[in-house]
Amino acid sequence: MSNDCADRRLPRHVAIIMDGNGRWARARGWPRIAGHRAGIQPVRELVEASSELGIQALTLFAFSSENWRRPPEEVRLLWELIGDVIESELPALNESGVRLRIIGERRRLSFSVQNRLHHAEQLTAANGRLELRIALNYGGRWDIAEAARRLAERVAEGCLAAHEIDEDAVDAELALADVPSVDLMIRTGGENRISNFVLWQLAYAELYFTDTLWPSFTRAEYEQALAWFAGRQRRYGQTGDQLEAAG
Ligand code: IPE
Ligand code: IPE
Ligand code: MG
Repeated sequence: MSNDCADRRLPRHVAIIMDGNGRWARARGWPRIAGHRAGIQPVRELVEASSELGIQALTLFAFSSENWRRPPEEVRLLWELIGDVIESELPALNESGVRLRIIGERRRLSFSVQNRLHHAEQLTAANGRLELRIALNYGGRWDIAEAARRLAERVAEGCLAAHEIDEDAVDAELALADVPSVDLMIRTGGENRISNFVLWQLAYAELYFTDTLWPSFTRAEYEQALAWFAGRQRRYGQTGDQLEAAG
């Protein structure tokens, strides 16, 4: 396979629902937070693999709008862990040329976490090797509603006409406006659902579900998912014959 061909078969944007930490810990008789801690290593590995392989963007779902419904102690420990990990991983991310941006509603987060997120984004702003997006207090419906609200405000201010609101206009207001649409979505942990992750950008994504629990997800399985993706025929509404005729 030529490099050109390999490149076309590589997703530009991979989005991952990192699920199964709690069950991984429970299977070992450990508290759930131990599973969340063990979930950091696969994040490191996949960030490194993605940038080595030439993937443009990687979006990771770390805390959903709905995860506040968990027991308060798990929520507290999770945010403590998220804050610590952002800080401890930052130098390595920066050195590898990763640009980190957070997507999600920040107002509910503690000032300390908000400050760390802001600092991480500032420090890595000029990097361009891999666009890393971490979804924190994120919900796909929240994202679309925010976009709608901002567009409505612009219409009310007279800066935009209602008839100018089309798919591109909505797309440009979403949290992932600056990266390509998702090509490959991976969910670990055995559930076949989207759980309010990026909704708009999954419109034509290939969906890869695996029973592997997130802390056990390896670079080797990531590469398996990428190989599976490479074998998909992305028809975007056309027929397979049309695509084969076009080469
Ligand atoms: C995913 O693992 C991590 C977060 C949602 C924060 P879970 O904590 O959902 O693990 P399971 O699904 O209970 O095993
Ligand atoms: C989705 O996992 C959210 C993250 C991975 C951060 P959940 O474990 O919260 O999903 P549901 O609630 O089982 O659908
Ligand atoms: Mg879960």
